Amino acid sequence: SLLLFTLVLLVTAEYLRVRRPSSFPPGPWAFPLVGNMFSFNPSNVHGDMTKLAEKYGKVYSLKMSGSWTVVLNGLSVLQEGLSKGDLSDRPDFPIHTDVLPEMGIIFSNGHKWKQQRRFALFTLKYFGVGKKSLESSILDEVIYISKEIANHKGKPFTLHLIMNNAVSNIICSLVFGHRFEYGNEKFLKLLTLLDKGTQIEASIWAQLYNAFPVLMRRLPGPHHTLQNIYGEIMDLMKAEINKHKEDWNPSEPRDFIDCYLNEIQKHQDKRDDEADAGFNEDNLVMCAFDLFGAGTETTSTTLRWALLYMAKHPEIQAKVQAEIDGVIGQSRQPSMEDRANLPYTEAVIHEVQRMGNIVPLSLPHITSRDVQLGGYTIPKGVTIIPNLTSVLFDKNEWETPDTFNPGHFLNEEGKFVKRAAFIPFSAGKRLCLGENLARMELFLFFTSFMQRFSFSMPPGVEPVMKPRFGITLSPIPYEICATSRKE
Ligand code: HEM
Repeated sequence: SLLLFTLVLLVTAEYLRVRRPSSFPPGPWAFPLVGNMFSFNPSNVHGDMTKLAEKYGKVYSLKMSGSWTVVLNGLSVLQEGLSKGDLSDRPDFPIHTDVLPEMGIIFSNGHKWKQQRRFALFTLKYFGVGKKSLESSILDEVIYISKEIANHKGKPFTLHLIMNNAVSNIICSLVFGHRFEYGNEKFLKLLTLLDKGTQIEASIWAQLYNAFPVLMRRLPGPHHTLQNIYGEIMDLMKAEINKHKEDWNPSEPRDFIDCYLNEIQKHQDKRDDEADAGFNEDNLVMCAFDLFGAGTETTSTTLRWALLYMAKHPEIQAKVQAEIDGVIGQSRQPSMEDRANLPYTEAVIHEVQRMGNIVPLSLPHITSRDVQLGGYTIPKGVTIIPNLTSVLFDKNEWETPDTFNPGHFLNEEGKFVKRAAFIPFSAGKRLCLGENLARMELFLFFTSFMQRFSFSMPPGVEPVMKPRFGITLSPIPYEICATSRKE
């Protein structure tokens, strides 16, 4: 009878644990222990989460990773929610805190996050985001990658790693002060690891680790691979920082690392009593990691979607090329000033981002205090998932939400129009820090590719548009043919 009593006690305790607090948003039944962790198709979590909004409303709740989670759906809820300062912290994830010495920008909070974010934004701007100097280094990279593409002479080839390398070189130039040659085995290995890391990070293994860290620390599985990947990426950051320290001249900062070393010194010299702003060498490693990671996968994935969509829709590709031929021609490289004169091309890039939906659930936030939203009270400490998919594919916002249609961004005269529901970079205080950089990269790489090549699928091959699920939704690695347009 003692056993029975204990069992009843445990079941009651678990029932109380998974029961929704009063005035909390509704949601599906949460199973004891695992909550709703296994309720989603692992390759379509964003789609399943979007469907749940039809049943439970735009603000609904789940039990994930051992804690209450609220999913925000639809433009007005997301805009209202994300504009609230009380919703802009990040949760702590044991899979990170167990191995990372500091939280950098993406996963830090409070005063440290504000200082690190402000510093990173300022420094990226200082080294050229939005300026001619950066534009010309992107255009140089275009020449390198175009040579590689042309070498395949119209035969099928895989773009995946070389695109990652080319895009990564832009953020590497800003952070480390140099690019990596395409044949650099060590760097290619790192890019492959980064790619693998984003898959594991979004997997059930990472969720289980965050829900049951004590158990998962002892069990083998891909979660440990993820932690080894973090280790290898941090090693690259440390090596770059050490090289910088050898010939660092505080009066002539060359890149983000040099500026950060200056900032560490400044804070040491001041020995101020102000709250810790987090300028130390461990955090430099993490900030460089964040910029490198966030600045590589995202833009590269979008460009790989762009070329796949062009191969799928040759008539749209031809229209983009005709517009570029008329405005830029073949005798010079594109420049950011051309953007205003290329409305159709701009619309295509936006539509690629909308359909590509590469960060489908944004990154998780957490409430730092009780928050009123959608008629509910969401208590402090609840994880928030901004469901960007619910906005980018909302049938009330887009004329043909499930079809690739550049017309979504054009008015009747063919002029480019901004759409409020275009939020691939999220919104509010945690809005993507690299948005301006990404927009420059997307525009210059894409127009250059369209100016130089026509992309098509290998004969007899149909493009696969179903994405691979991870932190980013990316195309399944594909082969493509690139025919030079200059000949
Ligand atoms: C955060 C999207 C490119 C750096 C984010 C978030 C999204 C996003 C959805 C999460 C916002 C939130 O928490 O609500 C994208 C897309 C990109 C892109 C779609 C390209 C097409 C870049 C680039 C960089 C970058 C090139 C490099 C500087 C960051 C950083 C954060 C972030 C550091 C964290 C900001 C913070 O926590 O304060 N991005 N991103 N991103 N992104 Fe991007």
